[in-house]
Amino acid sequence: MSVDVTTSPTPELSPSTRRWFHSAVVYQVYPRSFQDSNGDGIGDLRGIIARLDHLAALGVDVVWLSPVYVSPQDDNGYDIADYQDIDPTFGTLADFDELLEQAHARGIRVVMDLVVNHTSDEHPWFVESRSSKDNPKRDWYWWRPAREGMEPGAHGAEPTNWEASFSGSAWEFDEGTGEYYLHLFSRKQPDLNWENPQVREAVYAMMRWWLDRGVDGFRMDVINMISKDTSLPDGHLTHGGLYGDGSPHYLCGPRIHEFLQEMHREVFEGRQDRLLTVGEMPGVTVEEARLFTDPTRREVDMVFQFEHVGLDHGAHKWDRRPLQLVDLKASLGRWQAGLADVGWNSLYWDNHDQPRAVSRFGDDGEHRVASAKLLATVLHLHRGTPYIYQGEELGMTNVPFAGAESFLDIESVNYFATAMGQGLAAEEVLEALRDGSRDNARSPVQWDASPNAGFTTGTPWFPVNPNHDVINAEREVADPDSVFHHYRRLIELRHTDPVVADGDFHMLVPEHPTLYAFTRSLGPETLLVLANFSGEDLAVPELPGQPDWSGAELVIGNHADPVAPEDAGLPVLRPWEARVYRRRG
Ligand code: NOJ
Repeated sequence: MSVDVTTSPTPELSPSTRRWFHSAVVYQVYPRSFQDSNGDGIGDLRGIIARLDHLAALGVDVVWLSPVYVSPQDDNGYDIADYQDIDPTFGTLADFDELLEQAHARGIRVVMDLVVNHTSDEHPWFVESRSSKDNPKRDWYWWRPAREGMEPGAHGAEPTNWEASFSGSAWEFDEGTGEYYLHLFSRKQPDLNWENPQVREAVYAMMRWWLDRGVDGFRMDVINMISKDTSLPDGHLTHGGLYGDGSPHYLCGPRIHEFLQEMHREVFEGRQDRLLTVGEMPGVTVEEARLFTDPTRREVDMVFQFEHVGLDHGAHKWDRRPLQLVDLKASLGRWQAGLADVGWNSLYWDNHDQPRAVSRFGDDGEHRVASAKLLATVLHLHRGTPYIYQGEELGMTNVPFAGAESFLDIESVNYFATAMGQGLAAEEVLEALRDGSRDNARSPVQWDASPNAGFTTGTPWFPVNPNHDVINAEREVADPDSVFHHYRRLIELRHTDPVVADGDFHMLVPEHPTLYAFTRSLGPETLLVLANFSGEDLAVPELPGQPDWSGAELVIGNHADPVAPEDAGLPVLRPWEARVYRRRG
């Protein structure tokens, strides 16, 4: 595949226009943990360049780079102090240009992370904004006085009762000017005020600058938080009783569609054919996603929704529950149906904010290899654009954390401190962290069996998972039956078979507790996908409305010894076995 980097006039897009990313697969690189090139123990841009051939061998079309901009790294780069330069930890702009050139030479597009709901508190915009109440940039952020009649700085005096995503109040008191600023994440991540047109213009100019440099689109961090209810109402009290849930007042707020359409006009118009835009949108509903991704509305190409990664949560993220397959099918099936005629889905099991897919949805013990391949098969056969998180293609697992000191991520560290303050049992809190911490995704990529897994010659910033002696890229690339080669085959299938990219999706046996079954069909061709989400043999039951599948061609399976299609029609699936059959006519 070669990348067409020319721009062409905007075509008229109907809701069902076929776009290039329907048959594309995206790979997410979390630079800190991908590959170190200079021995400082932290991954960097030259490390990514050195590993591009791995991505080319896998066959992915797009790389999404988590943030590499100048940052104090309070939230590993999601706190940006300069949008138009590279953090020295990761390299230089020259390194970035070389990465872009080398990726393009391999037919791989590069999508940047766009973090514009908030900046770092060290960004010059915020430094100016906090310097005085009458600074011209004061209104670029959300500044409010203490609650009427209350002592500024006292608990309860915050302008609203909202809780921040990383624990505590979403407001930080600033001694210098005697007011509070809003931060929906850490106190070092003040929220930008998108109501101010100068903020929007500055952001759009910065985006155009990156596009002119050659980048191929943006993954937009929590982009459905940029429009807030400007009256800033209190939220309903949450689990702890100390804070309120402000999310109804800042998720998909009143001007969100207007802002995204304006961004489209100002930044993407005329160049959208070659670009990819994906909006990360916690709490987004299918109905809203139809609006965001309807191409005629010109907002974004697709969204990251969170429903399926919330199914194992109870009252909140740290209240972990066993996942029910029936719920997973109901959720993903609803998204498939909801975006069937209008819009487009993104498909993912994990990313840098989620536990490892095979540990969460599969079996990372005895059936690790089979279940990692099964998860890949199921996801990549859905309709939408699949995202692979680094190391997922190797079947990397969660981290065996020893104790509280093993967690480095701000969300986990803050939660542990808060939970201890509330008197929760340490062992229970640790269990929840082991299961759900974002740190699970952040251990270095396992390239080989050497002491630091080939990630660095120095001391890795985060310990390598001890299982890298068994799970590593070198071993998998050499083994045609590996998880890596299974992913490679699935990507190739999406590239070559239009039914995978564009076929209709139809869920089968939604109530079955362990069988995930569906069809994809386009014209005379139908694919049948069968996946056994259990460690037991499973005799596939009669599939209502389905023709006789005996004699159908087996397109791909996840066991080394593929079984010929049974004469009787439907097979007995072995533990964590997945198969894809094809019929024509
Ligand atoms: C979502 C990002 O994926 C996450 O890593 C980050 O902490 C928050 N947004 C805040 O930027």
